[in-house]
Amino acid sequence: MALLPILTAPDKRLKRPALPVKQVNDAIRRLMEDMAETMYHAQGIGLAAPQVDVPQRVIVVDVEYGKENGGSHPIFLANPEIVSREGEVVWNEGCLSVPEHTSDVTRIARIVVRGWNQHGQEVIIEAEGLLAVCFQHEIDHLDGILFIDRLSSLKRSIILRKLKKHKSDTKQK
Ligand code: NI
Repeated sequence: MALLPILTAPDKRLKRPALPVKQVNDAIRRLMEDMAETMYHAQGIGLAAPQVDVPQRVIVVDVEYGKENGGSHPIFLANPEIVSREGEVVWNEGCLSVPEHTSDVTRIARIVVRGWNQHGQEVIIEAEGLLAVCFQHEIDHLDGILFIDRLSSLKRSIILRKLKKHKSDTKQK
């Protein structure tokens, strides 16, 4: 396993749509494992392959991590797709690619997600609450969408300006 560098906004590589996975093979499984390790190390609850500069439709989520009696139970999905949607919810979201910012985002409250697991088997997952929000956030990444793209253009430009400054400050160090 290996820790992968996480891209941070603004970065063009976060904006390009990811390609479907043709087959869940050893290379994809290695990517999934590396993504999980990277996510846990960064104390995130979700990560999408474009965030580690791999333009493929692969995500990992674990919204239970860090809870009491927790342990790690990552859900790996290749080619995740939302096949059913119900209701609306507002959630305060953050993102490993948007460091030090959170914002309220309107999402679908209950969804059904379909995809392939790490064994290449089709799985269907019903989700609500944080898990549903997390799936939507990660699937957005696969389409080149960050949560700040779902905010007003004013809010987005304020955050992007701070992120740019943060990047140039970090480079100078
Ligand atoms: Ni994110």
